[in-house]
Amino acid sequence: MEKTFLMVKPDGVQRSLIGDIVARFEKKGFQLVGAKLMSIPTELAEEHYGEHKERPFFGELVDFITSGPVFAMVWQGENVIATARQMMGSTNPKDAAPGTIRGDFGITVGKNIIHGSDSPASAEREIGLFFKEAELVDYSKLA
Ligand code: CMP
Repeated sequence: MEKTFLMVKPDGVQRSLIGDIVARFEKKGFQLVGAKLMSIPTELAEEHYGEHKERPFFGELVDFITSGPVFAMVWQGENVIATARQMMGSTNPKDAAPGTIRGDFGITVGKNIIHGSDSPASAEREIGLFFKEAELVDYSKLA
């Protein structure tokens, strides 16, 4: 079953949007297989966002994602990686359609509420950075 890594960023947690965001993915039909409220250590933030290391906003990005608690999650379901990205909306909330998470709740590209893996390779890498195998549940034996 396809899995993705999603994370409510510090702005989303601060604005009490965890419940709304979780509800959207539950109602869509995806299954939550792992979740934790946590503060991200700087080294983990730098590794998670490693592909943006040369970007001018890298420092700002790391400062922001480590500025307060995040809600890290693993979700599973058919096409969950691409569908979750659609449900999140464009990276820059000014371009995100109404009805998407960023379209409904965000204004600026830095504080864009949620992160989601953009490919199967990213999902595998990001899940591995944030979760141990034993922290993920298995629904496959449910009747
Ligand atoms: P995310 O999906 O978490 O992946 C990388 C993040 O970089 C992206 O969301 C944005 O929040 C952030 N980002 C992209 N462009 C800029 C920018 N110009 N200034 C600050 N942050 C940015």
